[in-house]
Amino acid sequence: MLNYNEIQEKLQSALSPGRFNHTLGVLETALKLGHIYNIDEEKVKVSALLHDCAKDIPNTLKLRLCKEYHIPLDEFMSQDIELCHSFLGAEIAKREYGVKDEEILNAIKYHTTGRADMSVLEKIIYLADYIEPNRIPFRGLEEVRQYVENDLDKAMITALKNTIEYLTKNNRIIHPLTIEALEFIISKKED
Ligand SMILES: [Fe+2]
Ligand SMILES: [Fe+2]
Repeated sequence: MLNYNEIQEKLQSALSPGRFNHTLGVLETALKLGHIYNIDEEKVKVSALLHDCAKDIPNTLKLRLCKEYHIPLDEFMSQDIELCHSFLGAEIAKREYGVKDEEILNAIKYHTTGRADMSVLEKIIYLADYIEPNRIPFRGLEEVRQYVENDLDKAMITALKNTIEYLTKNNRIIHPLTIEALEFIISKKED
């Protein structure tokens, strides 16, 4: 794997200044959450830094790379190509940044859709992406920020519900993994 400075340098040239700034916000937030929930700092750092490493690739190239790397695009991702940046990002983290750790790769892979039975690292990256300090205020943001340091699952439920509501309102595609993520956490909380 590239060292921390090499990752940061390579990433900075792959991302727009705004996206890089967002990434630093995610890094800061994820590190704070990682300390609270006792997650390996190195894993948190690499996952946070690389979570959007594929986001600024032009969509036509995203499609081509998905094909080349044999990333299957389901019907939802084919309809909303933005959705694939996290799956493609995990593959690029592996191929171009030399990341081998499956936990890190999964945190990158599922940071947009979520999935059932997410690891704590996956939840931290998902939530840090949602609440990082550079986010322009939106409905529900403060609520998630309030819960996140005491109850990760409550924060996840709120963030997932908000996301589903937002996508529905805006006629956007809701990936089934997002529904599964929400249903899984709710069913576990009820146990
Ligand atoms: Fe993303
Ligand atoms: Fe992001």
